[in-house]
Amino acid sequence: MNSNQVQIFDTTLRDGEQVPGCKLNTNQKLVIAEKLDFLGVDIIEAGFPVSSPGDFKSVTEISKLIKNATVCGLTRAVKNDIQVAADALKYAKRPRIHTGIGTSESHIKYKFNSSKEAIIERAIAAVSYAKTFVEDVEFYAEDAGRTDNEFLARVCEAVIKAGATVLNIPDTTGYCLPEEYGAKIKYLKENVTGIDKVILSCHCHNDLGLATANSIAGAMNGARQIECTINGIGERAGNTSLEEVVMILKQHPYLNLNTNINAKLLTEMSHLVSDSMGMMVQPNKAIVGANAFAHSSGIHQDGVIKNRETYEIINPADVGINESLIILTARSGRAAIAYRAKNIGYELTKLELDKVYPKFLDFADKKKEVIDADIHQIMKLTGVLKQIYA
Ligand code: KIV
Ligand code: ZN
Repeated sequence: MNSNQVQIFDTTLRDGEQVPGCKLNTNQKLVIAEKLDFLGVDIIEAGFPVSSPGDFKSVTEISKLIKNATVCGLTRAVKNDIQVAADALKYAKRPRIHTGIGTSESHIKYKFNSSKEAIIERAIAAVSYAKTFVEDVEFYAEDAGRTDNEFLARVCEAVIKAGATVLNIPDTTGYCLPEEYGAKIKYLKENVTGIDKVILSCHCHNDLGLATANSIAGAMNGARQIECTINGIGERAGNTSLEEVVMILKQHPYLNLNTNINAKLLTEMSHLVSDSMGMMVQPNKAIVGANAFAHSSGIHQDGVIKNRETYEIINPADVGINESLIILTARSGRAAIAYRAKNIGYELTKLELDKVYPKFLDFADKKKEVIDADIHQIMKLTGVLKQIYA
């Protein structure tokens, strides 16, 4: 792997699907998995095979179907979980077992009623056992975000020795600040023997709205895998959003970090996941929200009509959207109405625009948004019927 390449690990079908009410059936998962493969994700986390017969079946079927990406199954640091995951992954071209255990004080004390030493032993045992089934074993140190760095480094060193190929450093509760999370990755890079043999992975939750920022901070400090979901869906406030990290790395080429994602398919992918799960994307969501390329204030519209780059840092075509939207509202100016009228065939002179504009404002004050049918109506009411094409 090129040292500037960031692997994209998609967990829409595992962490993403944990959202209440978003359960998918196997067929829906197969459609999404195939599209993720086509999108260019490097790893598809297909499910948690031991959790239910349905999840087992989905991971099995996805393993059979996927041609390019690594297919991954989640487990706890429990022998039976690992064995079941290995069984579900047996048809995969590139299988990966993702196993791990909580490493923070709170997980060790309250979840496991255990000790640091015993946790390290369980981590080693889980990785060693997973290694008897597959070469590619990813270890997660759950709640690494709140785990003291020194202990985390000891855990990492132990699982590298046991054969882990990827170390996942989850900010499970979305607690870290970007500087803190970046520093954690840097600390591991500098203090763990054998770290250069493995890939460090960011898995950040969005409880404080920092999941994407934390993942980018991780990559800037040496992580080479980012775990994310389409539309940022996931437990509670969600996971890192795939489309955001991909576009951040693309729009900041000086970072010299690349992904294999075909960004032109991002919008289509977002719609597929949103429709399949019945989970609407918030309109102001970065990259894939309905308003991400829509302009409604007069000042912005005037700028965008003159040159798109005045108010847009991404060309909508780069993420599979045909064009920026000029939304007509009471805050729109003459430039916007002239532009939208031209799009439906009315080339307005200055005089005509002077006639049309007050009528447009009447409409706009009564409605939230003035649509094409309203523009035709306005032209009729003001007598400006010179449509250059229908
Ligand atoms: O958030 C988390 O810690 C996880 C692990 C199970 C990888 O999802
Ligand atoms: Zn998670």
